[in-house]
Amino acid sequence: MGMFIVMEGIDGAGKSTQAKMLADWFKSRGYEVVLTKEPTDTAFGRLIRRLVLTGGKEGIIDGARISHEAEALLFAADRAEHVSKLIGPSLKDGKVVISDRYFYSSLAYQWARGLDLEWLIDLNRFAIRPDLVILLDLPVKESMKRINGRSIKSEFDKIAELQRNVRENYLKLAEMFPEMRIVNAQNTVDDIHRDIVGLVEQELLE
Ligand code: TYD
Repeated sequence: MGMFIVMEGIDGAGKSTQAKMLADWFKSRGYEVVLTKEPTDTAFGRLIRRLVLTGGKEGIIDGARISHEAEALLFAADRAEHVSKLIGPSLKDGKVVISDRYFYSSLAYQWARGLDLEWLIDLNRFAIRPDLVILLDLPVKESMKRINGRSIKSEFDKIAELQRNVRENYLKLAEMFPEMRIVNAQNTVDDIHRDIVGLVEQELLE
C-alpha cells in the first residue's frame, strides 16, 4: 500500500502551493507520486463548478443555485469517482497520493452551510481514510488578503463570514479526526514546507 496525504484549509491558505512542493519533495526521493485535487477535473467536477461555484476564483459563496443537500451529494459523487478510479488504484500500486482537499472540505464547508455533521460523515463513509491530513490554518483576515485579488468586491463580507465559519469547523474537526495535524500557514512558504516535511517524516516515514 502507498501513502495517502491530504491538504486542507480555507480558501487562500496555500494548499495547492504546498501540495506541489510536497509532491516534488517525494519525487526527489524516488517515490512515485500522484498529485490530485477536489473538486476533480472530471465531468462531476465540471458539474460542481457550473452548479455550485460561481465561476470566479472566490470559491463557494451563498449564492448557490441548488440546495445545500444536492451540493453535498455532488461533492460526494465527485469524490466517489475520485476514490474508485484514482486514489484507490494508486494506493494499491504503492504510490504516494497527495490530494488538495478531500472529504474534510465537505465536512467543513457543507457543515458551515447548515447541514448536519453526522449526515455528512455518513455520506462520506466510503472514502478511504488518509494516513495524514495537513490542516493549513490561518486567520481569515490573512487569507482574504491573498484571495482578495480573485474575488468580487461586493461579495467580500459574505465570503469572509463563511470562511470564518469554515475555519472554526476545521479546528473542531482536527479534534475529532486523529489523522489531522494543524500547521501554521502564516509563516513563509519555505517554513510551512519544512513544517509539513517534518510531520511527514515523523508520522509516516519513521
Ligand atoms: P478550490 O480548492 O478553491 O478549487 P479551485 O481552486 O480549483 O477553484 O475549491 C472550490 C471550492 O469548493 C472551495 O471554496 C471549497 C469548496 N468545497 C466544498 O464546499 N466542499 C467540498 O467537498 C470540496 C472538495 C470543496
